[in-house]
Amino acid sequence: MNSIVVGLQWGDEGKGKIVQHLSKSHDWVVRFSGGPNAGHTIYYNGQKFIHHLIPSGTKNNKLFISRGTLVDLEVLNDEIKSMERIFPEIRNNIYISAWCRVISPIEKDLDIKIEELKGSNAVGTTKRGIGPTVADDAHRAGLRIFDFFSEEKLRRKLTTLALISKPLIGDVDVDNILESLLKEFKKIKVRVKEASINGSVLFEATQAIMLDPMYGTYPYVTSTSCLPSSAPYFSGLFNKNPEVFGVFKAYTTRVGSGPFPTEIFDEESEKLRKAGGEFGSTTGRSRRCGWIDLPLLKYACDVANVDHLIMTKADVLNGFDRIGVCQEYEGEVLPYALESARPKVDYVKGWKNLQDIAFKDFLSVIERIVKRKVEYISFGPKEEDIKPI
Ligand code: GDP
Ligand code: IMO
Ligand code: MG
Repeated sequence: MNSIVVGLQWGDEGKGKIVQHLSKSHDWVVRFSGGPNAGHTIYYNGQKFIHHLIPSGTKNNKLFISRGTLVDLEVLNDEIKSMERIFPEIRNNIYISAWCRVISPIEKDLDIKIEELKGSNAVGTTKRGIGPTVADDAHRAGLRIFDFFSEEKLRRKLTTLALISKPLIGDVDVDNILESLLKEFKKIKVRVKEASINGSVLFEATQAIMLDPMYGTYPYVTSTSCLPSSAPYFSGLFNKNPEVFGVFKAYTTRVGSGPFPTEIFDEESEKLRKAGGEFGSTTGRSRRCGWIDLPLLKYACDVANVDHLIMTKADVLNGFDRIGVCQEYEGEVLPYALESARPKVDYVKGWKNLQDIAFKDFLSVIERIVKRKVEYISFGPKEEDIKPI
């Protein structure tokens, strides 16, 4: 069986932890989207590890960073080094597609500059150069890993990139950038190969449906597709037909700007943030917190064509007196017009633990609105803290 794990809200649903859990029954774990903007937290023998680019598999998996992933070579090398300390064997198990787009310091500077120019309309990006790298690629001026096999070609491309970006960021030192990129490339060169895959595949999507550039809350989105249907195209693995595992939190969080109809403030929000440890895995920013939004969750389940639904962080709500649930909106639910949306939030009775009848009632409300069964509950950050229901 092949599978894919996808986030159904605004990211950070616990995809990494679910990937780690499912990776045991798969041979390969494959990334096909996002880049170092992703932060997927998992625990190896009690030790916390945040994956930005390497798929969240374990030592028994082969790991493929396929062509849709945006690679920051320095971030990748640092991550390989840290992971080798935990699993020395990982060294021989990582494959990187030569087609991957490479983020250069030019795109990181552009990301910062463009956000600055947007002023109060800034997206609140992770400043990892994601948008400008996708834009440069669309201009057919961006860097790909295959460019690095010829220093001359890479120099020419960097010189063009420097010219294109000059009106925004001024002059850059092409020689210096070339030298530092090539130094990082040398360390991963032997791993650059298209994986010939036999065995079962687990795709690890990044970000989430509501951050997808075409189906999310544009313009407050990321720049690479987060949908399971984009996995074949962006991985080059066309015949896997993965079963879709959709992951959602028992409440909602969002990092960065953009509409968030069920957002809450004051003490209840602070309590949620503290109980859930809601601080960004990549940037450390405080995550905005709110109640579960079922019309949006239903939308995301449909867009992702979810086969199996997984709720994470159910434990975080233990001990709350009341829990907010948005079951409907007044008027239509349009992801691009959520700023003016009017969600109706009701409160259900809180629970002490997940055996409580009030928790079962909460599940029934979710299942009725999203028209799917919740098949697994995750109740802690460790790989084994999950049970089928
Ligand atoms: P991802 O980007 O979707 O992989 O999620 P992140 O790693 O950015 O954020 C999820 C956070 O919640 C991490 O700190 C996880 O360790 C933690 N986590 C995952 N599942 C659970 C859960 O069921 N309960 C609790 N309490 N924490 C969880
Ligand atoms: P994972 O995979 C949460 C958000 C940023 C910003 C917007 C655009 O860990 O769930 P970008 O840097 O991509 O141009 O930023 O998207 N964002 C994420 N939010 N989790 C992520 O990844 C995110 N990746 C990007 O905060 O609002
Ligand atoms: Mg994350």
